[in-house]
Amino acid sequence: MSKPDAPQPQPRRLVSYAELQQHNTRADLWVLIAGEVYDATGIVDAHPGGVGPLVKHAGKDATKAFTPIHPPGTLDALPPGAHIGTIDPATVPHGRDADAPSAEERRIASARAALPVPGAALNLVEIEELAKTVLSETAWAYYRSAGDDCNSYDENRAAFKRFWFRPRVMNKIWHATTECKQFGYPSTLPIWICPAALARLGHPDGEMNLTRAAGKEGILQGLSNNSSCSVDEIMSVKAPNQHIIFQLYVNKDRPKTAALLPTLRARGFSALMVTVDAAVSGKRELDMRTKGDFAGPAGGKSQQGSGAGVGLSISGYQDPDVCWDDIQWFRSLTDLPLILKGIQCVEDAVKAFEEYHVDAIVLSNHGGRELDFSPAPITVLYELQQQRPDILQKYEVHIDGGITRGTDVLKALCLGARGVGLGRAFLYGNGCWGEEGAQRVIEIMREEIKTGMQLMGVTRLERLGPQLVRYEGVARSRL
Ligand code: HEM
Ligand code: HEM
Ligand SMILES: Cc1cc2nc3c(=O)[nH]c(=O)nc-3n(C[C@H](O)[C@H](O)[C@H](O)COP(=O)(O)O)c2cc1C
Repeated sequence: MSKPDAPQPQPRRLVSYAELQQHNTRADLWVLIAGEVYDATGIVDAHPGGVGPLVKHAGKDATKAFTPIHPPGTLDALPPGAHIGTIDPATVPHGRDADAPSAEERRIASARAALPVPGAALNLVEIEELAKTVLSETAWAYYRSAGDDCNSYDENRAAFKRFWFRPRVMNKIWHATTECKQFGYPSTLPIWICPAALARLGHPDGEMNLTRAAGKEGILQGLSNNSSCSVDEIMSVKAPNQHIIFQLYVNKDRPKTAALLPTLRARGFSALMVTVDAAVSGKRELDMRTKGDFAGPAGGKSQQGSGAGVGLSISGYQDPDVCWDDIQWFRSLTDLPLILKGIQCVEDAVKAFEEYHVDAIVLSNHGGRELDFSPAPITVLYELQQQRPDILQKYEVHIDGGITRGTDVLKALCLGARGVGLGRAFLYGNGCWGEEGAQRVIEIMREEIKTGMQLMGVTRLERLGPQLVRYEGVARSRL
């Protein structure tokens, strides 16, 4: 914290670059953003992105790092008086913080110039490969990141290979439809967009692109609590009949969550999805390595940056003490349908419906980003189908994680899921082509789901059932 007896600087005064550089510690932390100097000391401990990233930029120009991550209006959250003033351009050292493109910016520009049209990408894996070429290193690391050794990440995809179809033939399949309901709302496909933070890292319009694509294609979207677009931005591009789900991380500062939930319906949301698998953050090493500075000696430079370790970064706003009885609390604050996202075993799935009466659940391990060795959601779904098929008939169960093909979706539906969410696929599509990329992801899924249904001898999604799928036990490679 700045010293209480220090004179309060007048707002909008001209600040020299040398003065900015002096405020470079956790206890006295200024940053330069878009030519303006801010005192961020007051938010260090409450910063949702953790202490580390702020300390790393202390006393420096943080514009390039800040803009793709934070929604407009973020700086309004700073306490009054925190806007110190405007940087004096004459004092900015020559050659430093210059606008000249970096090596990475040049790499991205040439990769973007070589990017084919969206229609040239024939499947989601191709979109992922293209995204890797055009995204910044930070964006790729953040999107692709998974927990520990990525076993859950790999297993999410691999587990689908254990299920093979038992197709039926000669069933008059020409008029097949993928229309259905998802979380109680009409949808043209049994898929929805997972809530995921920081779409702006991939494209300046961020999550707004996903909203536009979902509106045009008639599917639901989950909007992350850590969205890089503001709710106002999202609602400004939402189609009138479109349904968007608000995804919540409960804030340690409970009154903040209590104030937020009652506003959701009026702000245009159709459901509340509470994420329960990320009580603390998984150890995402790809993320950490890209971001952190691990080069310095112990006790040296690295103690200052985010590379000083996860400990420095863990000071986010999420409440690790969320419990089952909080469900009643959510219900008292909003009458929106309530979905729990992140259920990872049969017992909790049963508990969610039979004891706590939620409207829907998503079997999910957060795309393998939290607990490594948390089972693949398709495996948990299979167990549920084996042990409690009645739950699947009576209640709405979804899965997400590792879905790259229409056949993955169909397998989940055969095993009793009502729908599936896709996370990274949309971030990658958005990263390549913005709205058109997100739309291309949906288009590919539409083609693959419909063709798959027809080849299985089914014309309506309700006809999919466990009789059409068989568990093979051993993973076989995709041919
Ligand atoms: C109000 C003043 C704020 C300032 C000055 C600020 C500044 C920063 C800076 C400089 C970074 C580092 C970016 C990078 O190195 O890539 C960062 C990261 C981040 N910020 Fe903020 N931030 C503020 C408020 C917020 C708010 C309100 C949120 C949440 C809604 C937020 C969420 C994040 C997240 C999720 C990250 C990424 C964390 C990471 O890189 O590990 N920030 N912020
Ligand atoms: C590549 C740059 C990074 C970005 C863009 C980023 C972004 C984010 C975002 C958006 C969250 C919110 C939760 C979620 O994703 O579900 C988060 C959480 C977190 N990140 Fe990162 N991160 C980055 C690098 C790092 C690094 C280098 C570390 C550690 C050294 C780190 C540690 C954490 C921790 C501990 C949390 C959980 C915070 C909490 O829940 O309180 N991240 N990060
Ligand atoms: C970059 C990224 C950010 C995410 N952010 C959130 C989030 O803010 N809230 C949340 O509930 N889930 C978040 N998730 C998890 C997704 O909602 C979803 O569970 C997961 O991505 C599904 O796996 P898939 O990426 O293999 O499709 C995030 C996932 C990724 C990849």
